[in-house]
Amino acid sequence: MSNSVFHFFLLFLTLFLHLTIVFSWKKEEFRNCNQTPFCKKARSRKPGYCSLIANDISVVDGNVNAKLIPKTSDQDSKPLILTLSVYQDGILRLKIDEDPNLNPPKKRFEVPDVIVPEFETKKLWLQRVSTEVIGGDSEPSSVVYLGDGFEGVIRADPFEIFVREKGGKRILSLNSHGLFDFEQLRAKKEGDDWEENFRGHTDTRPYGPQSISFDVSFYESEFVYGIPEHATRLGLKPTRGPGIDHSEPYRLFNLDVFEFLHESPFGLYGSVPFMLAHGKSRGTSGFFWLNAAEMQIDVLGAGWDADSGISLPSDQARIDTLWMSEAGVVDAFFFVGPGPKDVVRQYTSVTGMPAMPQHFATAYHQCRWNYRDEEDVELVDSKFDEFDIPYDVLWLDIEHTDGKRYFTWDKVLFPNPEEMQKKLYAKGRHMVTIVDPHIKRDDSYYIHREATQKRYYVKDAKGNDYDGWCWPGSSSYLDMLSPEVRDWWVEKFSLQNYVGSTPSLYIWNDMNEPSVFNGPEVTMPRDALHYGGAEHRELHNAYGYYFHMATSNGLVKRSNGQDRPFVLSRAIFPGTQRFGAVWTGDNTADWDQLRVSVSMVLTLGLTGISFSGADVGGYFGNPEPELLVRWYQLGAYYPFFRAHAHQDTKRREPWLFGERNTEIMKDAIRMRYILLPYFYTLFREANTTGVPVMRPLWMEFPYDEATFSNDDAFMVGKSLLVQGIFTEKAKSVNVYMPGEQAWYDLRTGITYKGASSHKLEVLEESIPAFQRAGAIIPRKDRLRRSSTQMVNDPYTLVIALNSSKAAEGELYIDDGKSFEFEQGAYIHRRFVFSDGKLTSINIAPSASGRSRFLSNCIVERIILLGHSSGPKSALIKPANQKVDVELGPLWLRGSKGPLVLTIRRPNVRIADDWTIKIL
Ligand code: NOJ
Repeated sequence: MSNSVFHFFLLFLTLFLHLTIVFSWKKEEFRNCNQTPFCKKARSRKPGYCSLIANDISVVDGNVNAKLIPKTSDQDSKPLILTLSVYQDGILRLKIDEDPNLNPPKKRFEVPDVIVPEFETKKLWLQRVSTEVIGGDSEPSSVVYLGDGFEGVIRADPFEIFVREKGGKRILSLNSHGLFDFEQLRAKKEGDDWEENFRGHTDTRPYGPQSISFDVSFYESEFVYGIPEHATRLGLKPTRGPGIDHSEPYRLFNLDVFEFLHESPFGLYGSVPFMLAHGKSRGTSGFFWLNAAEMQIDVLGAGWDADSGISLPSDQARIDTLWMSEAGVVDAFFFVGPGPKDVVRQYTSVTGMPAMPQHFATAYHQCRWNYRDEEDVELVDSKFDEFDIPYDVLWLDIEHTDGKRYFTWDKVLFPNPEEMQKKLYAKGRHMVTIVDPHIKRDDSYYIHREATQKRYYVKDAKGNDYDGWCWPGSSSYLDMLSPEVRDWWVEKFSLQNYVGSTPSLYIWNDMNEPSVFNGPEVTMPRDALHYGGAEHRELHNAYGYYFHMATSNGLVKRSNGQDRPFVLSRAIFPGTQRFGAVWTGDNTADWDQLRVSVSMVLTLGLTGISFSGADVGGYFGNPEPELLVRWYQLGAYYPFFRAHAHQDTKRREPWLFGERNTEIMKDAIRMRYILLPYFYTLFREANTTGVPVMRPLWMEFPYDEATFSNDDAFMVGKSLLVQGIFTEKAKSVNVYMPGEQAWYDLRTGITYKGASSHKLEVLEESIPAFQRAGAIIPRKDRLRRSSTQMVNDPYTLVIALNSSKAAEGELYIDDGKSFEFEQGAYIHRRFVFSDGKLTSINIAPSASGRSRFLSNCIVERIILLGHSSGPKSALIKPANQKVDVELGPLWLRGSKGPLVLTIRRPNVRIADDWTIKIL
């Protein structure tokens, strides 16, 4: 081939590759269930397949123990050990594993460091089991007490576990359809089963297949939710059953999926095997399987088992599901609810409460792959000021490094990183840099040198440092399962070690599934080896979690435990909420992806991961201005609010689309800043109860069926309802407003009747948002450059009266930065309006002997929605001071806004007790 022909060929090839990359999700790169041996096998089993019975049931060390043995003698299968324990607040835990006394070839993997240590203190020490013969069973079942009004039952033959209301209706059950199967480890012999192949990759299986599967049923439930991460609607659609052809199960396998589809059960970057079920009559229940191997979950449509001959209580509607995992043990938790918030609290009592973020992190973040150099950073930063748009964090993607060596800087593009960060910080702004888990195999790179010497890398099946391809080229991957490796990683974030970093720099963990460009399914081979001899297949889904954990701990250590960390992670696992924020990965700039972002963020919230958001604008592609604007309007209500874009996209900072669009995007961002006091209060609620900041409507209105599958609208806390606009040039939208009480339009104050749908005109300027009647929302209305500069600003309280002319709300404040709040250094107030009087009540525990947080902030305005316009004044106590009540603007900016009843300058201190009586 001549030189020029060769170059032409290369150019053509590059273009071709580029086009296929840009325009397609490569389905064939990922395994489907049929190509995944354990999934195919489990799906082919028929109800009633399991022949195990529970034997030798006894109480030992406060747990119920039993052996699971085959009913008919089976040479190959050894008894399994079952342990059932009970924890406070209606939590039943079931463990099933091989019997260590029968010499299995190795110990199966149990996921460490996910269950929080406090959970063990909640264990109820069982004394005895009672027995009961169920139906025509030949053996009696064993019944244990499970908190107020609930019981756990081990049915011996056929083997089944279920949770029920005391002596009555079932809530949750496992193996009611007899689909339980547990493949025990074997010592290697001749024959097949010792490897698996996919697209030219071979993974050895040194212990043979080791999968586990079982059915779980949720009774009196109309919908199931949860098990992120998928791009699907909120209520999970059935994947098998009458009328459903060729559907895949929901896959839980952390993957770097290029251009994911907006509606698909395929696995994305994270995995949380926690499902919630909800129904009008029974309420909510939950099931969590702590297991880090690949999982596949079928939601079985009604009638799927029509021919099985199995009869479950026929008066109880139910949703059946099938859970299949490649490896690990059964370590499963049943949560009885009965309310949605109870289930979330129960789940987070096991896996941990969401961390309290720093205040700045709850504001707006500006990201792009990449802000090119220091001049670019300075320019973007100054444009925000020029256009009077607040923002808090500027992000640097991989190009800021010296050749994708994390913890380094490109010396030409970023010669003075410290100065750059300090300049931002002078305006109260922060910076985030990216640190990925793949380490460039380059002997001159200190991280690689140390990791090699210390043998800190994941090994391939032959025991050599695993070598895969990622951004830096040939790379190795730190074995984050090892506590020693994590401790070493922690030190890398100290200000001395991370040269060029300052205390205002925070971190972004990307590609931590882990993504390996040349690996099977763009990830690490399943037979790679980790700390303690664990196979990658056993812990794949938790790899990114340990990386996130170590990074987050690194930031805590950097500050000597003084500063709350901020680390964004792409991969997720149960417990991620303890270490930082997450985003939904590489979405696309289209309307469907805008829509699915709502259900994705809601689903994350239901599974404890409250601090999450999607890339505003859509990562791939160039959004039309209208889409970008709508995305800002919606994204302003995501718990994590960040704009981000791929390097091939056109620049899209909010001032680049003409004056009007800039104005609207600025308004959207401002709305977030105005509502920051409300958001921060909700982050604290999440931090203490697990209840997410952004919630599905049914979480607040669990008896209203019309809300169960609504994911076009959502709640921010319990007081704000937001309706997304997901279509181009929308003229009108139907908004369903649940509950008996009315709703006040956030911008106009106009009221709408509850428990009804309203057809509303869609405006360009904003998306519909409403304050619930009966709610008080705290705001900060002054426009600043960043949230940090709002600290001392006064508050506005917006009181939306309900039909009894009452309302209440809360405000939580702390230093926004340190861990002092854990020692009680915070202000927490409840505002109650009733009988024409507003009262501010302290709801923080008494501060005596504890650290205190002081604030001189005052309330500068109180807005009363739904009050008759008669009163002229109000009396403040204990100051005994009269203030005017008059008509004032609902919003300070823009002269056209509505006028509403306003108490001007009450100037009461936010930290004090006071009352204000309308005269
Ligand atoms: C993949 C991430 O999802 C994306 O947000 C990032 O820009 C690129 N990696 C480059 O780091």
